[in-house]
Amino acid sequence: MTVVVALDGPAGSGKSSVSKAAARVLGFAYLDTGAAYRALAWRCLEEGIDTHGPADVIESLPSFEFEIGTDPDGYVVRVGSEDVTADIREPRISATVSAIARIPEVRQYLVDLFRSIISGTERPGIVVEGRDITTVVAPDADVRILLTAAEEVRMARRSAELSGVSAETTARELSSRDAKDSQVVDFMNAADGVTTIDSTDLDFEATVASVVALVRSTT
Ligand code: C5P
Repeated sequence: MTVVVALDGPAGSGKSSVSKAAARVLGFAYLDTGAAYRALAWRCLEEGIDTHGPADVIESLPSFEFEIGTDPDGYVVRVGSEDVTADIREPRISATVSAIARIPEVRQYLVDLFRSIISGTERPGIVVEGRDITTVVAPDADVRILLTAAEEVRMARRSAELSGVSAETTARELSSRDAKDSQVVDFMNAADGVTTIDSTDLDFEATVASVVALVRSTT
């Protein structure tokens, strides 16, 4: 039976890099659900699909050809035949993605897709990270974690990742995205049965170690 580790957290909490590293240590697959929302936003911008009203986005879903790698060492995101792994991290995508993610039909479409990826996992386990994994996508996951960090720490970490973007711009983008996303899913407070790992005073290795230790002690 596949061990499912669900990990949610706000922007800049380090959940992507921590989940990927933990998956590597555990020999598990890794699923970055935010990348799917980002890939859909990328496609809308690329094809001029109106992201302000939901109708055009919903209509575009059946022809959304999207592929995401689940190997933590060979992670790639494609839309059609195009490798968009780097492009989906651009600020223009971060600025658009929340409007798409609030459309219920989009969420249902992607939640179904995530569940089918989870159930098709060939490795002994999978680490799935996002905003609604512990509550909606996999509420019955074997391990459920909320990864948090103080806002100023999250901003500093994200700003160190993005070269060429000012710290003020990063801070503004991060808090506006969290505010919009929080209206749709609560990822700031741990749901019942979810373990909070606060990484404010932990470095990257210590955070990964605490996730791995929790998985090993629970499963
Ligand atoms: O995790 P990341 O910051 O890459 O996610 C990008 C966006 O995708 C979020 O700002 C949010 O709007 C959306 N998202 C979501 N539910 C998830 C994962 C991401 O709504 N499970």
